[in-house]
Amino acid sequence: MCGIVAYIGERQALPILINGLKRLEYRGYDSAGVSIWNKKTKVYKRKGKVADLEAFIGNDDLTGNIGIGHTRWATHGEPNDVNAHPHMSMNGKFTIIHNGIIENYSRLRDKLTSFGVTFKSETDTEVLANLIEYIYEKGAVDAELAVRLALSKVIGAYGLVIICSDEPDKLIAARKGSPLVIGVGNEEYFLASDATPIVEYTKSVIYLNDGDVAVITKDQLTLKTDHNKSQTPIIQELNIDIGEIDKGGYEHFMLKEIFEQPRSINDTFRGRVKTENDKIHLGGLYEVMPKLIEAKRILIIACGTSWHAGLVGEYLFEDLARIPVEVEYASEFRYRNPIINKDDVVIAISQSGETADTLAAIQLAKEKGALVLGICNVVGSSIPRETHAGVYTHAGPEIGVASTKAFTCQVTVLAMMAITIGRSKELISDSSYQNLIKEFNLIPEKIEEILQNSLIIKEAAELYKDSTNSLYLGRGYLFPVALEGALKLKEISYIHAEGYPAAEMKHGPIALIDEKMPVVVVATKDSSYEKIVSNVQEVKARNGKIIAVVTKGDTVIRKMADHVFEIPETNPVFSALLSVIPLQLFSYYIAVMRGCNVDQPRNLAKSVTVE
Ligand code: G6P
Repeated sequence: MCGIVAYIGERQALPILINGLKRLEYRGYDSAGVSIWNKKTKVYKRKGKVADLEAFIGNDDLTGNIGIGHTRWATHGEPNDVNAHPHMSMNGKFTIIHNGIIENYSRLRDKLTSFGVTFKSETDTEVLANLIEYIYEKGAVDAELAVRLALSKVIGAYGLVIICSDEPDKLIAARKGSPLVIGVGNEEYFLASDATPIVEYTKSVIYLNDGDVAVITKDQLTLKTDHNKSQTPIIQELNIDIGEIDKGGYEHFMLKEIFEQPRSINDTFRGRVKTENDKIHLGGLYEVMPKLIEAKRILIIACGTSWHAGLVGEYLFEDLARIPVEVEYASEFRYRNPIINKDDVVIAISQSGETADTLAAIQLAKEKGALVLGICNVVGSSIPRETHAGVYTHAGPEIGVASTKAFTCQVTVLAMMAITIGRSKELISDSSYQNLIKEFNLIPEKIEEILQNSLIIKEAAELYKDSTNSLYLGRGYLFPVALEGALKLKEISYIHAEGYPAAEMKHGPIALIDEKMPVVVVATKDSSYEKIVSNVQEVKARNGKIIAVVTKGDTVIRKMADHVFEIPETNPVFSALLSVIPLQLFSYYIAVMRGCNVDQPRNLAKSVTVE
């Protein structure tokens, strides 16, 4: 949710922090702040973007080799200068940046207030800063002990970094529920909530585990568990290139990521889908495959766009592997008392691998004895570490808040899994298998073809950019695509959009249709084509404006629709991979034409690490 960055070493900290915050801004962007130690702790923080913070700092002297920085997505207290991080304790001894939520902050705040502590902000983080200081001043032998004791009184989640003015040669970091990565340099360390601000300085990283507390000087890192047991840090090599986290000449990350899809799907295939005669190799599932093949039911848990990919997965597993599937919002699943049998397999899907609700749902499924698999994009994130086995999507870093390439790569992995299971269960004949793989391998170049025709989509966007509502319809595999298309439009352009199964339109949304209502119909050639043609006629009869995604060469819907976006023909099981592309572009162009901040839409964050 929020972004954390910190530095200790010989270099000037400020440029590293500012650069890091810009890279992390996609995690939260309502306010930002830094704190630098140089004989005393200086704090600069500001409502708004990192650029506003930079302007606020101006030419002030913020030299120093130790510093912490934060970009915020507000949970407690409105976004303003005072509530921005870093937060300093009342007597100035502790300065802290924090990602997560301290759930019992109100009780702690009341208690501290009764001891005479005063607060400037409404945040839970300032309560934590003061709790640490209070314990320290009551006689804890050092800052580390004060932090440990304070954290033992806290209920909630945190990834945090602290500077103590009495021990200014070190940073203290702790993690529970909110990710923290330490970059290991040469007599210097970098800390961040994900690897993007670190990768340009070092590729050697340590992912903190839940409960870890790290004490870091410029030449030493001490890592202990919350029970004060020493840990040997495990250094891993980052597999990200700096070019992957730049815009690469595109105006926005989202556009770059849309155009990257042929490559990202190829990367997801690579080494896994070879020739038509070979098997699909999913190394991460090798050991659990027998259980997956025998599964009586698959439960898919996810949030947001990943949940839409899960819905496509439902159709894929049922069609190709004949396994019943339930797709659950992680946030609903975890608060029910879900029935999970021993032959069920749970699949958690997440781009970031850090979504709090998905993580909590995984814990619940594990407690109930299920085999839990993950489909994740961010290597080393929490979900791959919490699941029994899984598959990485290899989409590469996704920075635009609206998910695009992660979705198509998730669907690619789900298709690979469904085909593998179907094949193992002998539900897919040799010739069907070869046809499927042949078609699967053609998907990247077919996406390329759609991208080359983006001008038509841009022209249509110009006509609909001032709409206030829109309806997205699809059936079968294309129903989740309708949901995803509607989500893309509303999240980046703020136009109200609803996705519906096309036939359900008659049970309510049809009442909304008039000549001002754009209706986006995803209607490529598959078994429900004739039915959706009737739905298009129903819209036409009520003068709705029809924008249709159709298979190349379609003449029937073309006659009825106001605009058509053609996509190449494919096997219906892969149709979601192609038909979503025009919808991503349509939303993108509309949002740009409306002057919206495409990469950082209001109120949203890329990685939702609070419940
Ligand atoms: C946020 C993002 C969405 C994403 C969802 C789930 O809402 O803005 O783009 O689909 O979280 O995130 P995950 O990382 O678990 O896929």
